[in-house]
Amino acid sequence: MRLRFFTGIILGLLSVLTFFPVSAQDVFRPGQKWPDEAGRHINAHGGCLLHYGDTYYWYGENRPFRGFTTEVGVQVYSSSDLLHWKDEGVALAVSDEEGSPIERGCIMERPKVVYNEKTGKFVMLFHLELKGKGYAAARVGFAVSDTPTGPFRFLRSLRPNAGVWPVEFGRKDRKKAQQLKESDYKEWWTPEWRKAIREGLLLKRDLPGGQMSRDMTVFVDADGKAYHLFSAEENLTLNLAELTDDYLDYTGRYTRIAPGGQNEAPVILKHNDTYWLITSGCTGWAPNEARMFSASSLWGPWTQHPNPCRGPQANRTFNGQGTYAFLLPGTEDSYIFMADVWNPRHLSESRHIWLPVEFDADGKPLLRWRESWSLGEFAPSR
Ligand code: DGJ
Repeated sequence: MRLRFFTGIILGLLSVLTFFPVSAQDVFRPGQKWPDEAGRHINAHGGCLLHYGDTYYWYGENRPFRGFTTEVGVQVYSSSDLLHWKDEGVALAVSDEEGSPIERGCIMERPKVVYNEKTGKFVMLFHLELKGKGYAAARVGFAVSDTPTGPFRFLRSLRPNAGVWPVEFGRKDRKKAQQLKESDYKEWWTPEWRKAIREGLLLKRDLPGGQMSRDMTVFVDADGKAYHLFSAEENLTLNLAELTDDYLDYTGRYTRIAPGGQNEAPVILKHNDTYWLITSGCTGWAPNEARMFSASSLWGPWTQHPNPCRGPQANRTFNGQGTYAFLLPGTEDSYIFMADVWNPRHLSESRHIWLPVEFDADGKPLLRWRESWSLGEFAPSR
């Protein structure tokens, strides 16, 4: 009797599972392969999400299976549920014109797309390295489109804020920085060199041509103002620079964050009127321990906090490196933290980590490792 009862339950369960198969796409599986509708692993790295209309868009670096340069451009995918993604093609293509800043073989990294309510345009900022120059150019590229899937039109590339000092540099600070000479600090990492970096040794070096701009993100605040955050000064210092109302230029107001602290991969979010910045250290494609900073104003002061990651490999950001915090539409602070597990042998195969951002009792962000999770358990009120 008993045996028949259990056999009945098992057969019942099996038939339910046949009708409602639990496929890889029914839940987020951080770090696993993530096939698009055509069955190909999603090739959108160092990316971001955008919600527009009823659709989510995922933009990211289209990376080659072999090599490190950009052969295609920035890829875009669309979805109605954040789990199932359709490849919408190339949002911003490399150029075949010789000498173009985005000539095939350049490097396009960490594209971020935001919608500008005032102009009705989709604006893309990305880290751009010129063909054949390694990572020396350290520029930001601007592109624009009337539709979320593009094609985006490349506008220009530059180094931000040429000739402009950060807001916190008063007359005395500028004078002190002007007197610093790189030839006096040939040896890096000494206490004197660190002090000189903080006082603006490289900031002043790069003042005439603009600040270096590598790893980056874009943050749009509740008032619609947008900010470009990027690794400047040979990746030693983060800059946060205000963009103009059309998001296509700089207002000239910017601040330095953690000068000399070597932060890359900036990810920013807001919770209870506090801004939280999660970054990585600088170890190339290799993972390292995430850092976290907070401030009640984007203009600082920024305070450092311990690593927000919890769980296995928490001291290596679960083998990933952050790229974006996506605010779920209709929520105040339900964010998805997005990261890349870089595979430098085959960059196109780099995996994606998405995790919900939790907040502890003090309101500090926590990134807890999960093998799998669903939106329902994370933001049930949606
Ligand atoms: C780390 C950066 O975060 C990546 O975007 C990429 O630029 C690699 N460095 C290149 O080594």
